[in-house]
Amino acid sequence: MGNNITFTMIKPDAMEKGFAGDILSMILKSGFRISALKLIHLTKNQAISFYNIHRKKPFFEELVTFMTRSPIIVAILEKNNAVEDFRKLIGSTNPEEAEKGTIRKLFATSMGENAIHGSDSVDNAQVESSFFFAGKEIF
Ligand code: RTP
Ligand code: MG
Repeated sequence: MGNNITFTMIKPDAMEKGFAGDILSMILKSGFRISALKLIHLTKNQAISFYNIHRKKPFFEELVTFMTRSPIIVAILEKNNAVEDFRKLIGSTNPEEAEKGTIRKLFATSMGENAIHGSDSVDNAQVESSFFFAGKEIF
């Protein structure tokens, strides 16, 4: 799969506000193919493990509480240069700094509740995809 996949989550804030359909539509219109997708409610342990890299940050507990608040959509997306192109499509972590037309500019609430996740490297895209999907769930 090389550098042509990325992993995404539509986060609780966007799910609660009913933005999932609009966000998936933007993703598809931007040329990504969905190769795996499911609705899940993260357990506390899954959230802690997924965001392990941030465990020492001051916002960690808030992040785990937020990510376990409601069911989320997790998906694997395929496209040439997927990781970089998807980070461009979602915009900056802080929606106030996100560029016009990005998913976070359109749908995010705040730095903490920012609507969507996108892998930050090709290696992490693989690790995060395998965290949620078995090989037979990827098409
Ligand atoms: P993500 O991993 O979710 O795609 O977001 P990101 O790369 O743009 O941002 P990252 O630095 O990896 O932070 C992960 C998530 O933690 C929450 N956060 N809250 N309150 C805060 O200051 C703060 N900073 C980060 C956000 O939900 C962010 O997406
Ligand atoms: Mg990140």
